[in-house]
Amino acid sequence: MKKIPVGILGATGVIGQSYVHLLQNHPWFTISHLSASPKWEGASYEEATASYSLFPKPSSPLPPLKPLLPSPPCRLLFSALPSYLAQEVECPLATKGFAVISSSSSHREEDDVPLIIPEINPDHLALLAYQQKKRGWKTGLLLAKPNCSIQSFLLPLAPLHQAFGIASLSVTTLQALSGAGLSALTQNPLSENVSPFIPGEEEKTEQEPLKILGAYKDRKITPENFPITAHCNRVPISHGHLACVSVAFHQKPTQEQILNIWKRPSPLTLPTSPRFPILYREEEDRPQPLLDRDHSRGMTVTTGRLRPCPLLDWRFTALSHNTLRGGAGSGLLLAELLHSQNLLP
Ligand SMILES: NC(=O)c1ccc[n+]([C@@H]2O[C@H](COP(=O)([O-])OP(=O)(O)OC[C@H]3O[C@@H](n4cnc5c(N)ncnc54)[C@H](OP(=O)(O)O)[C@@H]3O)[C@@H](O)[C@H]2O)c1
Repeated sequence: MKKIPVGILGATGVIGQSYVHLLQNHPWFTISHLSASPKWEGASYEEATASYSLFPKPSSPLPPLKPLLPSPPCRLLFSALPSYLAQEVECPLATKGFAVISSSSSHREEDDVPLIIPEINPDHLALLAYQQKKRGWKTGLLLAKPNCSIQSFLLPLAPLHQAFGIASLSVTTLQALSGAGLSALTQNPLSENVSPFIPGEEEKTEQEPLKILGAYKDRKITPENFPITAHCNRVPISHGHLACVSVAFHQKPTQEQILNIWKRPSPLTLPTSPRFPILYREEEDRPQPLLDRDHSRGMTVTTGRLRPCPLLDWRFTALSHNTLRGGAGSGLLLAELLHSQNLLP
């Protein structure tokens, strides 16, 4: 099979490097375009990432870094740009006919932009036909992946919501430095410290799950409607977002019912989807970022400490790798989903 040429915008950052890593030897996609800020134009990827490289040297040759605008034959773009830039360039690129998968929060709230975790709401792809019609895009399209911390707790919660109905939810996140981009990793502003404030994060954590769990009907997503309260903290570890969850349900599940649901295999059979998206650890002191974040190439969400909650019904801890499952991995899964449904330009 001839591979589909893809581009990465913001290839030298945390999410861009994670895309490059996950796309090595990908069965369907090959990297044909890489971009970073103008200072790197013409430089090699290795040169531009030499001062802080997150992964081993790529095994296949990569194109040199170019200005933002890609050229044919590349039609699929993974955008890992800062939000202000994503806001500026992603729609114009879709207007030019590119399929753009956005990592940033810039377009997530727009009512014609699907916000998808492929295991949870692949049916929201149906919104793309309406998006193209509304915006006059012939082949271009724009999709968003959710905020990085959300996959850690929403992957385990979504099937429970489907079975028992969430009544209310409380989430406290402990988020790694890499969630704030490469500069946070290189400068490590939190040595011996924790920050109880991540700008905009609590709002995203309280709103995005409701759109993802919402129902698609008649070219519209009606968000779910239950209260979520979030506390988001930045902690001094490099990768891995941990979420401490308390949840109440309309119908009360038993511990066995919850654990059985978490043992289910993935509904997807895509190259990047782990066979079992959730792994429950019985040990009292798991999950831990350092020990659990890399499971299944960073695509598995690890849960643990499921126990009754004296305030709501159940509480547990969940962990995902923020740059892989929470970042490039979920963008890549989205691209695979698009391709599997013949929706790529
Ligand atoms: N980090 C995470 O865990 C995470 C998870 C999910 C979503 N996100 C979102 O993903 C996006 C990227 O985040 P990140 O953490 O990867 O950020 P980052 O490490 O700061 O990387 C930003 C990238 O954008 C490039 N860039 C900056 N200014 C540019 C310009 N004027 N023209 C072209 N390229 C430019 C940078 O290139 P240079 O190297 O040349 O500066 C770099 O490649 C953000 O919207 C973020 O909110 C991040």
